[in-house]
Amino acid sequence: MSPLLEVSGLTVRLPVGHQPKPVLSDVSLTIAAGEALGLVGESGSGKSMTARAVARLLPPGAQVEGDIRYAGTDLRALRGQQLRELRTRVAVVFQDPRAHVNPVRRIGDFLTEALRLTGRVSRREATDRAVRALDEVAVADGRRLLDRYPHQLSGGMLQRVMIAAALLTEPRLLLADEPTTALDVTTQAEVMAIIDGLRRQRGLSLLFITHDLDLAAAVCDRTAVMYAGRIVETRPSALLHGHPLHPYTAALGAARPSVTTRVDRLATIPGRPLSAFEVPDGCAFAARCVYAQDPCRTHRPELASVDEGEVACLRAEDLRETLAVTHG
Ligand SMILES: Nc1ncnc2c1ncn2[C@@H]1O[C@H](COP(=O)(O)OP(=O)(O)O)[C@@H](O)[C@H]1O
Ligand SMILES: [Mg+2]
Repeated sequence: MSPLLEVSGLTVRLPVGHQPKPVLSDVSLTIAAGEALGLVGESGSGKSMTARAVARLLPPGAQVEGDIRYAGTDLRALRGQQLRELRTRVAVVFQDPRAHVNPVRRIGDFLTEALRLTGRVSRREATDRAVRALDEVAVADGRRLLDRYPHQLSGGMLQRVMIAAALLTEPRLLLADEPTTALDVTTQAEVMAIIDGLRRQRGLSLLFITHDLDLAAAVCDRTAVMYAGRIVETRPSALLHGHPLHPYTAALGAARPSVTTRVDRLATIPGRPLSAFEVPDGCAFAARCVYAQDPCRTHRPELASVDEGEVACLRAEDLRETLAVTHG
């Protein structure tokens, strides 16, 4: 069976100054029906651009190369009504819910808007469905919430509303871009449990974007790790987590903060992440990699098939034992 989402050779260039600069290079990924794929990497690695390319929400002036197929249809060719139809099938939940609601509109209007736009649902039916959707995201007494304004809701409650809104049109694919990053730790766990539960009940496909490798591994069947606009490793989450093959994946796993230090999550990886357009010849991670050798600085590693996945590291085979031992 072909995958529900199939991205191949996706390169995105954005206008920076005078000239378009690549922010994604040759990104390929697939998500099967009902499958959850994690997309993990440091800030600036291109995770959001990947989701935006799929949702057709790239910034103006973006140049896109490659193929993005949803249920076999080329998304890049969709216009008008077909694009609106896509938005009912592929839903997006963003990191900062407040940036995606109109502060002067009531929650009820926000929730029912997408349904009413289809023109096939009465106001009353739309309201009933909104209340049921709120119930699904564990909001008791959702009817009372409909009259409230966004500022009257906590961040966690507003994110539940966003998830409810995303689900109202019965999508098959949910793109969740760091949906819990802006929330406090307790609320993070609650919202994560809601997303995970909904996905299982509804058999949704999920692209789950996070900078937290452990969280991706806990929620997703497979995980893709992104660095400087490229995917460097994609494998079943348990394998990638326990036996990473790319030094960057291992470093991400080792950099997890303890409960008492809530600072830069990746403070233990020396150096800073690069954007795709800053990458010199060779492996983008070489400058920060403790295992890098001369060829790593001159030869860019291609993704190669390994046990149940792919990795782009010239030394993946030599490092297999080392990374499994030192990780965690
Ligand atoms: N509107 C934009 N114009 C130009 N470059 C951008 C724009 N938005 C993001 N970028 C750049 O694209 C790269 C990838 O960004 P993004 O996908 O947001 O990363 P992530 O979500 O992994 O933190 C970064 O280098 C970022 O600076
Ligand atoms: Mg992002």
